[in-house]
Parts: sequence; C-alpha cells; structure tokens
Amino acid sequence: MRILSGVQSSGRQHLGNYYGAIKQFVELQGQGENLYFIANLHALNSVRDPLVARQLTRETAAAFVALGIDPQKSVLFRQSDIPEVSELYWILGTVVPVSNLERAHSYRDKIENQGLTNPEFGLFSYPVLMAADILLYDSDVVPVGKDQKQHLEFARDWATKFNIQYVKGYDPQKPEKKPGLLKLPRAQIQEATQSVLGRDGQKMSKSYNNTIDLFGTDKELEKQVMSIKTDSTLPESPKPTVNAPLYELLKVVLPGEAFKTIEAEWNAGGKGYGAFKKDLLDSLHHQFDPARKHYLELMQDEAQLESILKTGADRARAYAAPVIQRVRAAVGL
Ligand code: ADP
Ligand code: TRP
Repeated sequence: MRILSGVQSSGRQHLGNYYGAIKQFVELQGQGENLYFIANLHALNSVRDPLVARQLTRETAAAFVALGIDPQKSVLFRQSDIPEVSELYWILGTVVPVSNLERAHSYRDKIENQGLTNPEFGLFSYPVLMAADILLYDSDVVPVGKDQKQHLEFARDWATKFNIQYVKGYDPQKPEKKPGLLKLPRAQIQEATQSVLGRDGQKMSKSYNNTIDLFGTDKELEKQVMSIKTDSTLPESPKPTVNAPLYELLKVVLPGEAFKTIEAEWNAGGKGYGAFKKDLLDSLHHQFDPARKHYLELMQDEAQLESILKTGADRARAYAAPVIQRVRAAVGL
C-alpha cells in the first residue's frame, strides 16, 4: 500500500495541520510505503516573496521531521524537486473539464467568501496539480483533512477519464478486468479531527488569521491561546458547548482522560475561561515542547535538512519514473 500526502508551505504549521493531517502521516509510517511532501509549488499561489517562499519551505520540512516524520521510514521531499509532476499536471489538464474546476470548493470559497475578485490561473488549476501529485506515484491512500475531500474525488474522476481515453478496453465498473494507467486513490479522513476550529470559531486556517501555531515562540503561543474567542458566561456558571472553540480545542488537544475532567468542570461551572485556556496552554507545552525544541535544532542545520530533502527527491523520482513513462507512451510523446 502506497500512502502519500502533502502540506503547502504557505505559512506556519498549526494545530489544524497537525491533528487533521500530520499526526496521521506519522501514525501511518510503517503501514506501507510512505511518501510525504512539501507542496511548495502550490504555495506560490499565495507566497510571492522568494525569500519567504524558501524560508517557509524549510520551516515546513523542519516541522514534518520535528513532529515525527522519520526520513528513514518515509520518503520526505519537496514538490518542486520533481519535474515529472509539472509534466503530468499538463497532460492531465488536457482531460480535465473546466466545469469541475469552476465548482471546486476551495476556489469558490476564495471568490465568494474571501472577496477575491481577479483570481489567477494557478489558483484555478490548483486541483489539477494536486491530482498530478497523487497520481504520479501510484498512490493508494491519501490521508488529508476534510477540506480536501473534493480534491480527491477530482483526482479519481480524472484518472478514470484518462484511463477511459487512453486504455483500450478499460471499464471503470470492472477495473480488475483491464487495469488503468493511472491508479485510483482513496482519501483517508480522520473523523474526530476532520475540522479543527480556529481561535474565532471558524475552521483553523492559514488564510483566516485564526491559527494556533506549533512552532512560534512561547510568548506567541500564549498570546494565541489567550485570544481564543469566548462568550460572556460568568466563571461560576456552566459553560455552553456550542459555538465554543475553546471547548472544541480542549477536546482535540487533551488526552481522553484529561478531557473528561475538564468536561466535568466545564459543565459544572465555578471555573473561568482564563483557567481553561491555561489548561490548554499547559497541555500544548507538555505535548509539543520536545518537538518545538527539535524544530529549532533542525532550523539551525540547513545542510542536514537539504540532504534529507535531496535524498527524498531521488527516491520519489524513482517512484515517479515508471508512471510518467507509461503516461508519455500512452498519449504519444
Ligand atoms: P491551511 O488551510 O491552513 O492553508 P493547508 O491547506 O496547507 O492548511 O492544509 C494542510 C493539511 O492540513 C490538509 O490535509 C488539510 O486538510 C489539513 N488541515 C488544515 N486545516 C485544518 C483544520 N482546521 N482541521 C483539520 N485539518 C486541517
Ligand atoms: N492541497 C493540499 C492542502 O492544501 C496540499 C496538497 C497538495 C496535497 N498536493 C497534495 C495533499 C497531494 C494531498 C495530496 O492541504
């Protein structure tokens, strides 16, 4: 089983990225062949400063390793080191219906809810590059957050379309009869943490300025935790559990037993929001301080990170080679 996923290097990694994606990446190590990458080509849609782009790529690589992606167990690489992905992106694009891209949630969200008025082609075609990322390595399973579900459906649809077009006798109902050229991947979505809430109660996201970052300074972490939105319920009263991002974050971050205690206190009243925030902050330190320390060490050793990524790229290209060869031959290149 080949397991693949990526995270954009478009900002600092946050709790949503960890619980929605990276934690699964780590847990899936050893359950098959693992390929994980930094989607730094996708990130160019939002990062326009070359120094920042390079820095964020490095930070994302360091975050992966610090959080437990072991470069001995997983192929860890940078998307831009694999030229084959851009080639497959183009070839795949020739069978992608524009109507699919027009109804892509992430694209429409930027236009309808975030006020984007003159979208660029890179944003529009984002799902095609993502499908190429997945299909290039014959991936079976793609662990992601819920927001990526539609992108995975697209990848399956376009792989099917490509197979029908280029494989004689391919029947999508009976793929076992005649295998396709591109393998159909399936999304693996963690139910409990499929959507981690941000400080303001919306989905936590780099684009909403509502994150709790994993690798900021202690001061920044405290500031972010203390700014989680709460209502005006008095300390002595029981606290509401709906529209309560603090409650949701405690549920995600605290280990099960510890959360049971907190839940009882939450429902009983007698403890203020500030004290609950302190509990969350303590738990974050307890769970992430070793990774935070490792991260700082990794960020100081640029050569080591580069070497990890370089080795990863060589290994990833070896996985990609037979697939791109098949595709090139099939379309007549
Ligand atoms: P962002 O939305 O902050 O830009 P990315 O799009 O880079 O984050 O997401 C990287 C991975 O983390 C994806 O698999 C995505 O589904 C997951 N992810 C991001 N935010 C959340 C969240 N709030 N809850 C659960 N998973 C998330
Ligand atoms: N679109 C994903 C995100 O925003 C990142 C990504 C790019 C990805 N290519 C991928 C995830 C391939 C899984 C597989 O999080």
